Amino acid sequence: MRDNSIEEVKSRCDIVDVIGREVELKRAGSNYKGLCPFHKEKTPSFVVSEDKQIFTCFGCGATGDVIEFEQKYYNLDFMEALEKLASECGVTIEHGRGGDTSDREELYRINREAAKFFYTAFRRAPNKGAEYMKGREIGEDILKKFGIGYADENWDSLYNYLKGLGFPDDKMLKLGLISFSKGKYYDKFRDRVMFPIINTGGKIIGFGGRAIGDVMPKYLNSQESSVFMKKNNLYGLNLTRQEISKENSAVIVEGYMDVIGLYQGGVRNVSASLGTALTDSQAKLIKRYTKNVILSYDADDAGRAAALRGIDILHGQGCRVRVLHVTDGKDPDEFIRKKGRQAFLDLTETALPYADYKFDAISRRHDMNDTEERLEFLKEAVGVLRTLSPVEADMYIRKLSSGYDISEGAIRKEMAETESGPPDRKRASREEHVDIPMGRLEKNIIKVLITESRFYERAGEFTAAFESTDGKAILKAMDRVYERGKEFDINLILDNLDESAAEAMKNIDCDMLPVGDGQKMFEDCLDAMKIEKLQKKEKLLTDKITMAEGMDDQVVKGLFEELSDTRSEISSLRKRGH
Ligand code: CTP
Ligand code: MN
Repeated sequence: MRDNSIEEVKSRCDIVDVIGREVELKRAGSNYKGLCPFHKEKTPSFVVSEDKQIFTCFGCGATGDVIEFEQKYYNLDFMEALEKLASECGVTIEHGRGGDTSDREELYRINREAAKFFYTAFRRAPNKGAEYMKGREIGEDILKKFGIGYADENWDSLYNYLKGLGFPDDKMLKLGLISFSKGKYYDKFRDRVMFPIINTGGKIIGFGGRAIGDVMPKYLNSQESSVFMKKNNLYGLNLTRQEISKENSAVIVEGYMDVIGLYQGGVRNVSASLGTALTDSQAKLIKRYTKNVILSYDADDAGRAAALRGIDILHGQGCRVRVLHVTDGKDPDEFIRKKGRQAFLDLTETALPYADYKFDAISRRHDMNDTEERLEFLKEAVGVLRTLSPVEADMYIRKLSSGYDISEGAIRKEMAETESGPPDRKRASREEHVDIPMGRLEKNIIKVLITESRFYERAGEFTAAFESTDGKAILKAMDRVYERGKEFDINLILDNLDESAAEAMKNIDCDMLPVGDGQKMFEDCLDAMKIEKLQKKEKLLTDKITMAEGMDDQVVKGLFEELSDTRSEISSLRKRGH
């Protein structure tokens, strides 16, 4: 069991993307190849597997997943690497315990099956969903590309389908695919066009369902769950991120149909913030691909308000942001349908940069003919100037001066006068940590130790294998209070633990079965730990072998030998257990 955030980061940060930023990678069969960044070489023996999400070097032996790459490449510890990746891909590290991996995997599987179900229904003629999308002039190829589906009118077709596949009710409830009322489960999405929301790791994390006709709400979205955090994701990015990198610019729009409309219209560096306000997480996510963002929200008041908040967020995260409000039609989707691609591109040329947009918005709120209000305007405008680089600020002082007829001197004076300390940077990040929950083996070993302290003499054989946060803390506390020849005093251990580890310790003390044959249990646990470790090695070796295409025969032979040794070690340990 691992914490949510680790899995979230791994599922979101594609290893090929992450390593590709630092190492030039070329496709080689089903893998990617490049020059190893960890040792000097002239011919590439550094291989990255997209399927397996690992890298390995057949020259120096460096191997690992995306987090281990960051650790090694930037010389970071695990938490630092995790945090770096998390902030780059816009994941907020959760504190405390989340669901475990297998739980999340099942949630993803359910969403995938649901998406297939909707997709199939959309393709079964005739249905209202396909008819509706036809009315909106979206072509078959685009519909397929985005995996558009249809949730039929029945109250329980999805529920029965998923039930038939053996998925449990509580998971379907958790994902917000079904609800429970008056003793019955029923489908939440009915008679809607379904837009699967897919993260950059290719996992279906949720759905948006558009009503056909005037039913309220117009859009119904999956509820937030451990796999769907709206604030961490951008719609469409799974399909458009390459284009965004290539163009080095992204158009961020409000809605599902804006993404699809622009994409079909030939503007493919697009993504949607799903509704109103853009979040810091989303800004960080886009920044992985480009710093240049064009915010193209609806032309209505809600869209303007959202754009104003959005640009501050993006600017705050260091993006170069410009704002575009379409002039014809209410949103980018309508605009491109009416006017075409070139008209949209022309419009992006005229999009206002951050500072211009801010000044414009501020001036609209003030009566510029009134002296008092002009002064107010100046104060607020200076607040914006402060967030710019010195060179930019200088340029904008001149622009402000000529545009709003205020002397440069007055602006500079205002800037100097109200100069306050350093701009309020975000408070230093709190000390973050991710908990790794305790597994059965660790608990058993601790139970044995508190029953018979003599096993503690063999700490060297198991301490390194302890992975959980609480488990490690408990071993550390035991180490502090251990006295040779004396049994452990639980209260002394507890005194040396924080709240969470103390809780875990008490649970082990009461819940675990009393130790029968301590010796046997201890040996079994050690063996099981060794087997676990060897199995990881076995998996890694088989992965490496599949990545070794085109490598030196000697290297491949070595891997096979190692694999066979590992396997015989595992089987001899297994035999010993019986
Ligand atoms: N939205 C939502 N819930 C609603 C309304 C809107 O989640 N009840 C989100 C959706 O992501 C939607 C976006 O806000 O795509 C923009 O809303 P809106 O402009 O009303 O819809 P459009 O994208 O223009 O949709 P359509 O063209 O289908 O009317
Ligand atoms: Mn629209």
